Amino acid sequence: MLRLQAATPDAWIGYALEHFDAILVDHAHCEQKAAHAALSFVPQLSNHPELLEKLIALSVEEIQHFQAVTTIIHQRGLKLIAPQKNPYINHLRSAARHEKGHHLVDRVIIAALIEARSCERLQLLATHLEDTSLRQFYTELWKSEAGHHSLFWTIARTLSKQLNAQGYAIDPQARLEVLSHHEAQWMQPRPHLPIMHG
Ligand SMILES: [Fe+2]
Ligand SMILES: [Fe+2]
Repeated sequence: MLRLQAATPDAWIGYALEHFDAILVDHAHCEQKAAHAALSFVPQLSNHPELLEKLIALSVEEIQHFQAVTTIIHQRGLKLIAPQKNPYINHLRSAARHEKGHHLVDRVIIAALIEARSCERLQLLATHLEDTSLRQFYTELWKSEAGHHSLFWTIARTLSKQLNAQGYAIDPQARLEVLSHHEAQWMQPRPHLPIMHG
């Protein structure tokens, strides 16, 4: 369902629980960035009103997630300090092609993969956290991110079709294979970082 080529290493959840406060703060920033990133695709969807409305709804959901995570941060006596660098996102973006139409489709597929990985990791938190209300909260979130993953994949295929009618030759499935393989390389053993995708 999530189109990921590798699972998060088993060691990650233990690390995330140990560094949960830092993960929480990074998670809030991820939600905020996800809302902005989604809106960046609005101009490309003018020919697809139904998808455009779904994308705007996705962005609203991300802002709601941002608000909810920020509330939890404050309830725990923490502060929403400035975001850390996100080498995971840089890793993914480094595999995007540069040519205009290809770049757009790659960006949308990368967005789909980020949603998928977020979904997987939020599900791990929902399963392993001890606090019942946090487990419930993360369960709601991972289900929402699964829907976001599907929407971005639908958008990637729709835009590919539109671009191919203009003379491009974009195979979204082939690009998904390449980009998800690249994403999976991030799951290889290495020191973890106190961020959601670290
Ligand atoms: Fe979200
Ligand atoms: Fe999302």
